[in-house]
Amino acid sequence: MDMFRHLWTLMLLCFAVFPSACVNYTQIDPLIYEEQLLWVSGGAGQVDTYRIPLLTFTSRGSLLAFSEARKHSSSDIGAKFIAMRRSTDKGATWSPTSFIVDDGFLTDGLNLGSVVVDKKTDAVILIYSLCFHRYHCSPSSTMLVESLDDGFTWSRPRNLSIELGVKSFAPGPGFGIQKRYPPKVGRLVVCGHGSIAGDGVFCILSDDHGISWRNGAALKSIPYNQPKQNLDFNPDECQPVELQDGSIVINVRNQNNYHCRCRIIVRSLDACESLPVEELVFEKTLVDPAVAAGALQKQGVLFFTNPANAQERINLTLRWSFTDGKSWEKEAIQIWWGPSCYSSMTSLEGNSPEDNKFIYVIYEKGHKECTETISFVKIHLYGGK
Ligand SMILES: *[C@@H]1O[C@H](CO)[C@@H](O)[C@H](O)[C@H]1NC(C)=O
Ligand SMILES: *[C@@H]1O[C@H](CO)[C@@H](O)[C@H](O)[C@H]1NC(C)=O
Repeated sequence: MDMFRHLWTLMLLCFAVFPSACVNYTQIDPLIYEEQLLWVSGGAGQVDTYRIPLLTFTSRGSLLAFSEARKHSSSDIGAKFIAMRRSTDKGATWSPTSFIVDDGFLTDGLNLGSVVVDKKTDAVILIYSLCFHRYHCSPSSTMLVESLDDGFTWSRPRNLSIELGVKSFAPGPGFGIQKRYPPKVGRLVVCGHGSIAGDGVFCILSDDHGISWRNGAALKSIPYNQPKQNLDFNPDECQPVELQDGSIVINVRNQNNYHCRCRIIVRSLDACESLPVEELVFEKTLVDPAVAAGALQKQGVLFFTNPANAQERINLTLRWSFTDGKSWEKEAIQIWWGPSCYSSMTSLEGNSPEDNKFIYVIYEKGHKECTETISFVKIHLYGGK
């Protein structure tokens, strides 16, 4: 009953205030509209394995897909490129792969990463780490590249550790957000996790469209900066989304299965200056094998993707919530039955009816191992209608 009243209020509010952006909740019926493989590991050329897919919209309505192109092995360490493909027709066709960053021969090369779009400057900003694991190298650095021409060309890497300090910080993997609702409209928020011992969720903030950055909220692991054991509190890879009330919810990997084999959700009420423990819940509906997952808020509906299995990285599933994640709809759709690991989502933010109908998912997909391919999925939210 309460739930229906809540929906009615939302719908009435919606029709009164933003009729073009209204969602008829009862008609949400996600349908896999098309799927294509963007990267295949073990192929010819200089790349052993593609991993860690990211996806973003741009201000001009293009889609950009990124991944780590691991040169010599499937390992998290080692030398890599950042691979990118670009679609200017809403995911129907994609440019050939370009390598926008090359870390050379590093023993502990780059790791992705978080992509964020500034809607005032139209910049696409990509933040990644170097030497995250400090394997035969020191210190760890947080790096930034940006494109001012819709992803066509990219700047040289800029070293953010000069202003942030040199601690291990692995952004995302996923997207960063630009605040749309108060407080702090326009702020860029990029969240990620710390080093293996000094783990936790950490956010970095920019209030001048990416010119300067500083450290914001932290949710530290316990015991902090000490070796962990099974079932310790160890928040790890994460995806922030802004809700329409201006709060930011961060959907977090529960690395050591503290309390449950499910997602940690923590909410910031002050644009990621703080992540209070009072705002932390364990979301038992979102069963998870400890992995990087996707979250997206579109027109008041919260979407979530992960391999929905407590033990294994299989069964990539899309879920949705009409209550900002307080409850999840019983229907869920399976995107892939088999091995599937990291996923990320985006949607186009234009006002066309077309852009209101679709969300886009990118994920690691395989038959024996999820590292075999990176796949892009276009999902129609209204059953193809
Ligand atoms: C980035 O800056 C930090 C702090 O000055 C420095 O220690 C580190 O070596 C730099 N990293 C790179 C890759 O230049
Ligand atoms: C896949 O996910 C769905 C939705 O959570 C769940 O009902 C089902 O049991 C899962 N299947 C496997 C094999 O994990």
